[in-house]
Amino acid sequence: MANTILVGAQWGDEGKGKIIDVLTGNADIVVRSQGGNNAGHTVIQGGKKYVLHLIPSGILRRGKMCVIGNGVVIDPVALVDEIEGLRKVGVRIGKNLLISDCAHLVLPYHRALDEQREQRQGHAKIGTTKRGIGPAYGDKAARTGLRMADLLQPELFTKKLEAKMRENNSILKALGARPISFAKVNRDFLAAGEKLRPFVANTVVYLHRALQQGKEILFEGAQGTFLDIDHGTYPYVTSSNTTAGGACTGTGVPPHRMDRVLGVMKAYTTRVGEGSLPTEDPAIAGMLHDMGREFGATTGRARRCGWFDAVATRYATMINGIDELAITNLDGLDTVDPIKVCVAYKLDGKTLEVPPSDAAQLIRCQPVYLEFPGWKKSTEKAKKLSDLPKAARDYAKKIAELTGARLSMISVGPARGQTLIL
Ligand code: IMP
Repeated sequence: MANTILVGAQWGDEGKGKIIDVLTGNADIVVRSQGGNNAGHTVIQGGKKYVLHLIPSGILRRGKMCVIGNGVVIDPVALVDEIEGLRKVGVRIGKNLLISDCAHLVLPYHRALDEQREQRQGHAKIGTTKRGIGPAYGDKAARTGLRMADLLQPELFTKKLEAKMRENNSILKALGARPISFAKVNRDFLAAGEKLRPFVANTVVYLHRALQQGKEILFEGAQGTFLDIDHGTYPYVTSSNTTAGGACTGTGVPPHRMDRVLGVMKAYTTRVGEGSLPTEDPAIAGMLHDMGREFGATTGRARRCGWFDAVATRYATMINGIDELAITNLDGLDTVDPIKVCVAYKLDGKTLEVPPSDAAQLIRCQPVYLEFPGWKKSTEKAKKLSDLPKAARDYAKKIAELTGARLSMISVGPARGQTLIL
């Protein structure tokens, strides 16, 4: 039995959805513990493409339980849309989904504030997904948030919402934005609440009972290590703990019940939004975009691209306690020669083995590269390690070694079958 925390070891979009889908085969329960519908996990199954935002990827496999934990922030209207959209394409959603009654709500004023703050920051903007994630977590920390449990008590919810809307509409007006209609939000949210009611439960108790019964849990991380509110490239981060510890606080499952941490990393690096990306290189970005790759699953934005950054992934291994690694998108490098890997940063004449904490320093870091020969062959049909060209095998082994954890999976394409289990 292994309870596994899956985390992104870079800046998000590491291909976690696909790896979770592969791992779900062995899990009983898949749990989301943080983030909201800023996430977009792409899973290709039976030739069909699914993009999941709030619902754990396990929903696509029959017989798996899916839990949205207390650490997630939920836009109930978006969640109902996601459920209905999945049902329309034949995905069964019923007793296989549970939602924590402690999860906080994302309201329309959170989205409006997210948008306003970004606009007012000008060049200093974070480049958020504008889903209201930061303001919703802000309310949670300020102890002024509304939760799923409130939504299921219509009278109480209406009363609390009215007060919250009055306050937030004053802020929006002061910022020069249009106020939001309380009546409409109340109506839409109560309607969404009724649709979600059957799924809402005390998920902490559910998960503990499942553990007692020996069930295996997969904790599906969203975003990536360097978007973590504490450990990421602050302030260019999201507002939750995307690192392994978030799986405990965001679900109520204690640390000693976690058996392994699996880090997912691309064979190169990408990032959406603002903030430093030390190995960014327009040459690799142009090539990947020309191949139709690296466009965001949630916002459609073209992702920024760079070479593999072992300084970052080594740090991610430390913070998360990564035991095993999955390398994704190895096939993205099939035509590249030579391939660069960043092994250290140079800053003011000094060599750095770990990223500096200050964003202004990180932006001045110069990557120190090693070069590897490309393999210039398609890897998409590989089924086992020995099917890969030697240069591809050597590259994958080297970046895992530089990262400091055991390489256990390599992905060479979006389909479930394009996964080498080592
Ligand atoms: P927010 O989470 O919408 O507040 O955005 C904060 C930062 O995190 C921005 O740079 C976003 O582009 C980034 N971000 C948020 N969610 C994801 C994700 O699922 N994948 C990659 N980047 C993300």
